[in-house]
Amino acid sequence: MIKKCLFPAAGYGTRFLPATKAMPKEMLPIVNKPLIQYGVEEALEAGLEQIAIVTGRGKRALEDHFDISYELEEQIRDTDKEKYLVGIRRLIDQCTFSYTRQVEMKGLGHAILSGRPLIGDEPFAVVLADDLCLNLEGDGVLTQMVKLYKQFRCSIVAIEEVPASETSRYGVIAGEMIREDIYRVHTMVEKPKPEDAPSNLAIIGRYILTPDIFDLIKETPPGKGGEIQITDALMRQAQEGCVLAYKFKGRRFDCGSAEGFIDATNFCYEHLYKTGQAY
Ligand code: G1P
Repeated sequence: MIKKCLFPAAGYGTRFLPATKAMPKEMLPIVNKPLIQYGVEEALEAGLEQIAIVTGRGKRALEDHFDISYELEEQIRDTDKEKYLVGIRRLIDQCTFSYTRQVEMKGLGHAILSGRPLIGDEPFAVVLADDLCLNLEGDGVLTQMVKLYKQFRCSIVAIEEVPASETSRYGVIAGEMIREDIYRVHTMVEKPKPEDAPSNLAIIGRYILTPDIFDLIKETPPGKGGEIQITDALMRQAQEGCVLAYKFKGRRFDCGSAEGFIDATNFCYEHLYKTGQAY
């Protein structure tokens, strides 16, 4: 059973400066809820109650968000405003939160390796909070992936088709389709130019990883951009064993870009906020 979910959240969020100068990018709200809260909700829905967050300098707001605010609670007790805190209280009650700091920014692979003391020797999920994933029709993306893990017991990356011109923003896979929407990965390249991309199947910010990934990351030299890439470590895992890529059901918004952020905001306003499901 997978119980832990790792959130790499140490990045500077430079694409959203100046908003992210004194505030973690994971706290940017989509309508009324911070990005990271959507991610933790998705994890809890999948049964992952142990939330492990890799933070960095200037990220204290994350810890405060997943804690009680006595003054605020006292202020709104027995008023109609209490409903606004029902969702976050549920997360605080049902999840545990642990934190570690990534001291140097050396890439996503390095961030995940920094989380090793919080994860230990068990399979775990990874959520990149700036990819907001919603499935209004059924299971959330992590729930879909956990179900798949129970069948296959190997690392799984979530993928989506992207326009060929956008491959240089993602890790891109190629593989053999073993079932509808499931590929066994043969190749993985981090942020290839369109002409070098092995396909248009892009990795998005949801992973399930088996713990042998940690030693593989340790052995992974810096890759694209001089950073230690999880894509390169996963490529090794795919060569030595098995990695699956799963075309998930639902929608994903790249909230690290202004366009994706606005799309997510409009979508959540329409489908969650206006319908009273946003707390
Ligand atoms: C990271 C990964 C990349 C993946 C992407 C998904 O890139 O390195 O393989 O496709 O997340 O969001 P980043 O967006 O952090 O540059």
